[in-house]
Amino acid sequence: MSATFPGEFLWGAATAAHQVEGNNTASDLWAFENAPDSFLPERSGDACDSYHRWPEDLDIVRDLGLNSYRFSIEWARVEPAPGHVSRAHLAHYRRVVEGCFDRGLTPVVTLHHFTTPAWFRAAGGWTAADAVARFRDYVRAVLPILDGVEWVCTVNEPNMVAMMSAMVKRGERKENVAGAMPPPDQDVADALIAAHRAAREELAALPLVRSGWTVANQNFQALPGAEDLAADWAHSREDQFLDVAKDDDFIGVQAYTRVIIGPDGPVEPEADVRRTLTGWEFHPDALEGAVRHTARRVGPSVPILVTENGIATADDTERVEYTSAALTGLARAISEGVDVRGYQHWSLLDNYEWGSWRPTFGLVSVDRETFARTVKPSARWYGEVARTGML
Ligand code: BGC
Repeated sequence: MSATFPGEFLWGAATAAHQVEGNNTASDLWAFENAPDSFLPERSGDACDSYHRWPEDLDIVRDLGLNSYRFSIEWARVEPAPGHVSRAHLAHYRRVVEGCFDRGLTPVVTLHHFTTPAWFRAAGGWTAADAVARFRDYVRAVLPILDGVEWVCTVNEPNMVAMMSAMVKRGERKENVAGAMPPPDQDVADALIAAHRAAREELAALPLVRSGWTVANQNFQALPGAEDLAADWAHSREDQFLDVAKDDDFIGVQAYTRVIIGPDGPVEPEADVRRTLTGWEFHPDALEGAVRHTARRVGPSVPILVTENGIATADDTERVEYTSAALTGLARAISEGVDVRGYQHWSLLDNYEWGSWRPTFGLVSVDRETFARTVKPSARWYGEVARTGML
C-alpha cells in the first residue's frame, strides 16, 4: 500500500472527558453507572485519571510525532449546579489548551461529548423547555478559555445521542443488528440542532474559531431492492444531521463500520464475518465511504475533519491493519478532491467504552491500578505516518 497526504494536515488522537478523566461525579452518566439497578456492566471510576495525568498524555501525543489532540470539556464539571460555574475547572481546561500550545499541538476541542450534568437530565434533559438556553449559557462560560483555539466541535455525534435516547425510551439495551440503531428521538434531535446553532452563535465572538459538529457515519449499504429503505435509514439517522452542517466552518466525520440494509431492514453480517471487540464488522473502508458520503451531502465548500476512526481490538497488529486500510481509502478520497483537513485517531488511550472496559480502542494502554501508560507499537507506526505524511 502507498498513499500520500497533504503537507498541512492535522494528525491527532482523540479522547473524551468522561471516558478518560475519572470521577466525573456530577454527570448524568456517573449517576446512571452507579445506580444500584444499573445495567451497565462496569463503571468509569477513576477512568485513566487523565484529569490529573493530561500532561503525560500530551507528552505522548507530541513524542509520537502527532501535531494535534482532540479532547472534550466536561459540562458537568464546568457547571456542577445550575448557574454555578466552576472557575477552578475552567482554569483546568485552560491549562490543557495551553498545554497543547506549549507542545506545538493544535487542540480540537469538543464542548459536548455525550454526558450532561446530572441536574440537566433531572430537569428533563434535551427536551426541557430551557435546554438550549442552558447549553448556550454553558458555551458562553467556556468562551474565555478558548482564546487561540481554532477547531471547536459543538456536539459530538448528535445522531447517536438522539438514537440512544430513543433506545432508552423503548427500553432496549442493545441493537438487534450490530451497529443498527432505532430512528432518533426527533424532539432530542431538534433540540440538539438548536443547541448546535446556539453554540455557533456564541462561538462567533471568537474570530479564530472554526466551529462545526461531528456526525456518526454509519455507512448504510443497500442490498438490491432495498435502495429506498436504505435512503430512509440514512436520512433519519445521519443525513438530517449532515444537512445542518451546510453553512458550518467544517464537518467532523466519525466512522468505524457499515450497516447493510436489506428489503426487511438491517441485515446481520454472516456468522463468520470478521468482527471487532464491539461486535461490529471489521470494515476499514467505512472511512472512505463516510468522507465521500459526507462531502456529497454537505457540498464542496465545507471542509472535513475526521474526528474519530479506529478499532476495538486486543491485537495491536490488527489496529495497524485496520488503520492502514482506512487511511489508504482516505488518501484516495483526498486525491480525488475531497477536502479533508485532518485525521484524529480514536483513541489515544484504552478508555472507558460507555459501560465497559473491554473494547480497547487505544494507541496507548493504561494500567488500571497504577495508571501507567504504555505506548503500543501501533502508536509508533501511526506517529511515523504522521511525521512523513505517507504510508
Ligand atoms: C464515540 C466515542 C466512542 C467511540 C467507539 C463514538 O461513537 O464518540 O465516545 O468511544 O465511538 O464506540
